[in-house]
Amino acid sequence: MFTLKPLPYAESALEPHISAETMSYHYGKHHKSYVDKLNSLLKDDPLADLPLEDVIQQSKGLAARQTIYNNAAQIWNHDFFWNSMAPDGGGAPTGDIKALIEEHIGSTEDFQTAFKDAATKHFGSGWAWLIFADDAVSIVTTHDAEIPFENGATPLLCCDVWEHAYYLDYQNRRPDFVTAYLDHLVNWDFANANLETVKQAVS
Ligand SMILES: [Fe+2]
Repeated sequence: MFTLKPLPYAESALEPHISAETMSYHYGKHHKSYVDKLNSLLKDDPLADLPLEDVIQQSKGLAARQTIYNNAAQIWNHDFFWNSMAPDGGGAPTGDIKALIEEHIGSTEDFQTAFKDAATKHFGSGWAWLIFADDAVSIVTTHDAEIPFENGATPLLCCDVWEHAYYLDYQNRRPDFVTAYLDHLVNWDFANANLETVKQAVS
């Protein structure tokens, strides 16, 4: 059985940028429903004994497992998203990621402009990511539940751009939500920890 992991902070911890009401719905309803649906779908299925990442990899692209894939990937994405944010986060990158962003993307302002542009222009539901691949960092977006690790990249950070992530607080103003994420919420320690893990894995 898959479980709804606890949030890494209180539901009110990201206020005023993300309200406790949004967190209550987003975590307590949307995220929880992905866990409940996956457990229901995998009842009596040997896939239920695999790590979540393996369920995702062994379901992607298979029409018969599309719903399993959607719910499994959305569980993973939301766990990653909660950890991509922290109270008093945001602003300039730190640590090793700072140097990589300067080398491959540009200044903090360049990074924020590019990330906001990608997240805002992404049409429909999906995710904006900072990823590490081929010894470089870059910004990508994915549709619906898709995750960059499916194609070999290492996710460092993500921002949920499904409407359910911001509609209660920002209505249709996705750019304002993404700006708040960049200025006040991004957890650079988490991104650096993800970078460190992949560097150790390849060394
Ligand atoms: Fe979401």
